Amino acid sequence: MSSPYPWMDTGLSPDERARMLLAELTLDEMIGLVHGPMPVLMASPPADAAMGAGYIPGVARLGIPAVNETDASLGVSNPRQMRKGDGATGLPGGLSLASSWDEALAYDGGAMVGSEARDKGFNVLLGGGANLTREPRCGRNFEYLGEDPLLAGVLAGAAIKGAQSNHIVCTLKHFALNDQETCRHVVDAQIDEAALRESDLLAFQIAIERGEPGSVMCAYNKVNGDWAGENAFLLTDVLKRDWGWKGWVMSDWGAVHSTAKAALAGMDQESGEQLDKQVYFGAPLKEAVEAGEVPFERLTEMVHRILRSLFAHGLFDHPAGKRETDYAKNSEVSLRAAEAGSVLLKNDGVLPLSRQARRIAVIGGHADVGVLSGGGSSQVIPIGGPGLELDVAGVAGAFARITYQPSSPLAAIRAQAPQTEVVFDDGADPARAAELAKTCDAAVVFATQWATEAEDLPGLDLPDGQDELIAAVAGANAKTVVVLETGTPVFMPWLDAVAGVLEAWYPGTRGGEAIANLLFGEANPSGRLPITFPRALADLVRPEIPGQIFGPPVEGQTIPTTRPDVQQHKGRLVVEHPEGADVGYRWFDCQGIATLFPFGFGLSYTRFAHSGLKVEGGETVTVGFDIANVGERAGVETAQVYARIKGGQRLIGWARVALKPGETRRVSVTADRRLLASYDTSLPGWRLDAGAVEVWVGTDAESATLTGQAVLSAGTMAP
Ligand code: BGC
Repeated sequence: MSSPYPWMDTGLSPDERARMLLAELTLDEMIGLVHGPMPVLMASPPADAAMGAGYIPGVARLGIPAVNETDASLGVSNPRQMRKGDGATGLPGGLSLASSWDEALAYDGGAMVGSEARDKGFNVLLGGGANLTREPRCGRNFEYLGEDPLLAGVLAGAAIKGAQSNHIVCTLKHFALNDQETCRHVVDAQIDEAALRESDLLAFQIAIERGEPGSVMCAYNKVNGDWAGENAFLLTDVLKRDWGWKGWVMSDWGAVHSTAKAALAGMDQESGEQLDKQVYFGAPLKEAVEAGEVPFERLTEMVHRILRSLFAHGLFDHPAGKRETDYAKNSEVSLRAAEAGSVLLKNDGVLPLSRQARRIAVIGGHADVGVLSGGGSSQVIPIGGPGLELDVAGVAGAFARITYQPSSPLAAIRAQAPQTEVVFDDGADPARAAELAKTCDAAVVFATQWATEAEDLPGLDLPDGQDELIAAVAGANAKTVVVLETGTPVFMPWLDAVAGVLEAWYPGTRGGEAIANLLFGEANPSGRLPITFPRALADLVRPEIPGQIFGPPVEGQTIPTTRPDVQQHKGRLVVEHPEGADVGYRWFDCQGIATLFPFGFGLSYTRFAHSGLKVEGGETVTVGFDIANVGERAGVETAQVYARIKGGQRLIGWARVALKPGETRRVSVTADRRLLASYDTSLPGWRLDAGAVEVWVGTDAESATLTGQAVLSAGTMAP
């Protein structure tokens, strides 16, 4: 039956369809589309609310679907089980995905999560975190994609594209500079515009170009004096004008502070409205429009952007509804991702473990139960329930629990080595664990570091005496391997004493199996660090996380809401960003500071060689070279291409290739010109200077295998 509504004609463009529909809406209906609650905080949630993080009622008389939003950074989340017992497939953390450097995998992960979300009745995913890691202790690094704008932008774009292939919308978040969690509601991030354009904004820009997200979520913090959600520079000048992006800006939950200022700055929709001081985009917005304080045209633009995105991404034409999910199939994507995202940091020859071993000790990290995941809004509840759930104190305690995915590494190791006696010790007593390790051919110690949204880590040391445990075991058994399940880098005072280190991050639903597959060589480690492992806090841009000392509270800037993390911090906290665009490895390079493990680093069970470099210059740089697998096993190489621009090091591309032993492949990498340019606010735009630049291929940010030079021609590009 054909639709009675003319805007359901799929032959029309999303903009035409939105315009036709908009013409039918009353003022109240328009206002109804630009704000919405958290259903879980409603006394009686509407029947069509899917009980995720957010809900925007539809307009039934015109066939506008309700918007049902769920967090989905790493799977369909269900923090504190707001939907009792509703499990989902958990992907490994974002740092794991970024360690894969694999665009196709990012797409597949996004597509999988999007399909599960649809199956549960959601049509908007709150995913796509692309904030660059400027603070290694940031509690949310595990949700993000590391410290490089190209890597983060490419992978976020691919994940969004995959998610949206399900006829749903996926956000890109948190726009912008939400680089610390402690005090995220009071931070005023100060940064120079050119530096911002060359770093965090570039990551978002690349993600938008590649992923075309239907929506962008603003950040909690201020940027250069204005809340991210009231920031006309960010929302209107950059996002909508310079980048020509056509979607809608939604607020973060509890991030709206005004009506007219936010609306005029470019905010299009207030989310999780019960967390704000008042429903700014409800009655107050209607009054502001009627009083002419917010032009009617601005309101229609807000609604147009929302409707346009819903049309463009198929929400009208393919309404989401409950469907059966093939969890077994979906978990394969997660397993593949965990294998591709784990990074082998050290191997003295102990790995892969031998299946002939008589006895192996598995120690610590609740390895008998499962693998760790990160806390906060991205928390996925495993199907069948958590392996282990522990309460936490502190700011995050109100909405986070330490949750283990029930994929036991111990069981998976036993399955890999049926002839071997695999014994377990929980690691609570280092001396006892060391005694056990002494009786074994090898010892595998699992070490964990839990991180969560809303709170930064106190430091980068493994907590709860795990360094002592590892040192004791390593002292007792020369074949000690450490498996890290961490949400960010950690220090390794025991590094010289152990024979192997595998960084598995938070490895997701099938993490235990992935780890065992890697340890026994069933899978060949191929991850490369998307983030620098520093040696000491003193080496960081900010040795102390800003937030211990507050500036005087500023009138009108307190934010009373129901969230404890919001209540705790009041006032305004200015955070300078002297590093500018020199984020992560660029900082260590320009400061000449040694690292524990550099960005891009990762070992394999095979060896690769690079040769035959050819560099072409001109408008951009194109680099061609051969990659050969000169070892004995099939493996994946990620060869990175760097350039030195104005004295600073930049990743300008990479080639990721799977090669059989003895196989060689020629690859070609062409740089995005913005990475060779500087942002010039006086143009405004990107400026490429004519001249020779150093270009090299490397296995990480500190090791070059082939070096060359390109001569660039001068040029400019629009912002
Ligand atoms: C987080 C967002 C999330 C939202 C809804 C906020 O606290 O910062 O990433 O999408 O909550 O759960």
